[in-house]
Amino acid sequence: MTILVTGGAGFIGSNLVRHLIRTRPEDRIVNLDLLTYAGNLANLADVESATNYRFVQGDICDRELLRSLFHSERIDGVIHLAAESHVDRSILGPGEFVRTNVEGTFALLEAARDAWTTDGIQGRFHHVSTDEVYGSLGSEGYFTEETSYRPNSPYSASKAASDHLARAWHHTYGMDVVITNCSNNYGPWQFPEKLIPVMICKARDDEPLPVYGDGGNVRDWLHVQDHCEAIELVFREGKPGRTYNIGGNNEWKNIDIVTLLCDQMDEALGVGVNGSRRRLITFVKDRPGHDRRYAIDAQRIHDELGWSPRHTFESGLRETIRWYLANAEWLAACMDGSYREYYKKNYDEKTG
Ligand code: NAD
Ligand code: DAU
Repeated sequence: MTILVTGGAGFIGSNLVRHLIRTRPEDRIVNLDLLTYAGNLANLADVESATNYRFVQGDICDRELLRSLFHSERIDGVIHLAAESHVDRSILGPGEFVRTNVEGTFALLEAARDAWTTDGIQGRFHHVSTDEVYGSLGSEGYFTEETSYRPNSPYSASKAASDHLARAWHHTYGMDVVITNCSNNYGPWQFPEKLIPVMICKARDDEPLPVYGDGGNVRDWLHVQDHCEAIELVFREGKPGRTYNIGGNNEWKNIDIVTLLCDQMDEALGVGVNGSRRRLITFVKDRPGHDRRYAIDAQRIHDELGWSPRHTFESGLRETIRWYLANAEWLAACMDGSYREYYKKNYDEKTG
């Protein structure tokens, strides 16, 4: 197959591209990414010269580019991750979320439909989405694939809209679409704006650790490698038109995660004269419309496809902390913006 991965230079996308290059050597992986602030090709430095891999810088809203890419590469599978992904940014500027997540998904679905109809290809379109489309839970219950959509933030509303488009393209045009809705991911290569890398950076630098509101919000955490394995399995074996929830069965209050992270950072770096890093925890103004609790029921993907996560959270977090501490240069480049130079140096200059 030739699989188009969109957003392959981001956090989950780069972990997925690396995974696919290794597990599917007989397939070709084409990574289409605009390289927004969240896209970083240094994430893929170790695999960029693989013979079954090609990177294309471009926008999923660019219909002409999509048309030519689908035909020239004879794409017969799409795994669509490209998106604006950060809730706080969506509150400050929702426009880009509607453009990329809604209009971009529309453009991609249409490009696939058009190319596959013209070229007589029976392609598969895998739309990667989030548990946030289901809204917020009280202290009981879980999101199943039957839970009604109730998105609360501009980010989750834009993802919900894109899920509806993907579902409709299956129902109306008979396109082979699968959708996955996953919980919070953590692990290597996550841009330092999300909870875990933010806290690792700040704890390392002995800076205050900003916990929103009362810290009682609950998320279900899953290691990114477990997510990538689930995506590949659904892409390969999921039933056309079906949705699969993916989660770690691993609920944590934010305050408990930050406390555990402080203890693991103390273990990794030692406790200085000022004492445990727990003293850095600082409650700050809450995120507007902050969803209280997410929890995934992942029974369907377990029963139908045999998936379950392999990482346990305590050891996965310890390993993630170790990774960030060992990759201080990568992190520094993210923080000072110099990661943008990677593309120019390694791609532009090489290709002239
Ligand atoms: P990310 O922000 O790290 O990466 C997004 C990538 O998309 C970046 O490389 C960016 O350059 C690219 N991109 C943005 N706009 C583009 C455009 N117009 N055209 C082409 N590329 C574009 O995101 P992530 O955390 O890796 O999430 C990937 C996907 O998984 C998203 O669809 C997100 O909604 C979904 N998801 C994320 C999580 C999570 O915990 N991070 C959980 C569930 C689902
Ligand atoms: O549930 C899946 C979603 O998880 C994905 O769809 C999103 O793309 C991804 O960004 C993530 O969304 P969250 O809003 O849950 O992730 P974030 O890391 O931003 O925040 C996790 C929790 O921690 C949330 O309750 C807000 C809180 N938080 C976050 C930051 C950055 C803090 O308390 N302090 C912080 O500095």
